[in-house]
Amino acid sequence: DLHAVILAGGSGTRLWPLSTPEFPKQFLPLPGGRSMIQETLARVTTLVPPERIWVVTGRAFSELVRQHLPEVLPRQILEEPVGRNTAPAITWAASLLARRSPRAVMAVFPADHVITKLEPFQRAIRFGYQLAQRGYLVTWGIRPTEPATGYGYIRFASPVADGYGHQAFSVEQFVEKPDLATAQRYLQDGHYVWNSGMFIWQAATILAEVRTHLPALAEQMTRIVEATGTPTERMLLEELWPSLISISIDYGVLEKTDRLVVIPVDIGWSDVGNWEQYGALYDADGNGLRGVGHHFALGSQNVFVYNTTQREIYTVGLEDVIVVALEDKTLICHKNHVQRVRELAEAQLLQR
Ligand code: GDD
Ligand code: MG
Repeated sequence: DLHAVILAGGSGTRLWPLSTPEFPKQFLPLPGGRSMIQETLARVTTLVPPERIWVVTGRAFSELVRQHLPEVLPRQILEEPVGRNTAPAITWAASLLARRSPRAVMAVFPADHVITKLEPFQRAIRFGYQLAQRGYLVTWGIRPTEPATGYGYIRFASPVADGYGHQAFSVEQFVEKPDLATAQRYLQDGHYVWNSGMFIWQAATILAEVRTHLPALAEQMTRIVEATGTPTERMLLEELWPSLISISIDYGVLEKTDRLVVIPVDIGWSDVGNWEQYGALYDADGNGLRGVGHHFALGSQNVFVYNTTQREIYTVGLEDVIVVALEDKTLICHKNHVQRVRELAEAQLLQR
């Protein structure tokens, strides 16, 4: 059986002030009006029936998840007491699914990505499902366009299979978030793709890998999952979860495993990691002016205004600028410095 696991426990800082620890990126609206997590569910629903869709999130976000995704069965929303990154989240879902069925396959989807090409996405998932049944850990790769340091890089080697108009390759190396010089080398090399952050594998396969590479996590998770449905479940979760290793599946397993294959895809993928990428989701007028809410630009080029207030916003003679206007905060940022918004967000947090 194919199950879908949506990961929705992360807290973004680069789309501050719109995204905050209480209202992270996955809940932000997209141009169509739906949030990123709602569009994720809509995509997944074309492949997996509701009784096999799971969401893993932090307790702090479970109310928001329920509001945004009323279609997901409440008992299939798994609430972590605190975030311990993606390895524990994925291991939890895998342990529950493997208990239900030893042959269960799980596809893992981040809740905060944009994918614009549905049809090739669906074919890519179906192909991945085939490979997962053969015992592979499957990732989907994105052709890199810049030496970004926020992604995993996968060096693909020889073809292992094809299907559904896609081809899968063996993986020579997986490097999570390399430094800039290394990323530049990978880009030049031409044999690297970005890790899309979506995965598919048998629950039993990933559990075996977790046992090998993160043995303590595997053991603690067994205790948690064995208590599922018993009166001690909640207590055990409260007690054990904060002590789990806090590590991503990328560092914890994918860099180390030898069962990885990659399917390069062209699916209109973006992880919307900064204001420039978020602005690019909106249609531009002839001068590259984009936005939401009131804004008027005179002699301006490539300006994105996100205005949720009643105030009118006018710009004159600006280029490559992003303006985010909320009731209590305004951010004005040059497009070449969008990565530094994180520093502002972190400084704000310290002041609280
Ligand atoms: N349930 C749960 N609990 N979900 C979490 C947690 C957690 O503690 N931490 C993060 N997530 C969710 C996030 O909400 C997001 O949907 C997904 O897991 C990935 O986490 P990120 O924190 O956004 O990871 P990243 O962007 O730094 O890196 C990952 O994604 C890149 C592509 O966007 C890696 O897989 C990279 O290799 C990859 O290139
Ligand atoms: Mg991310």
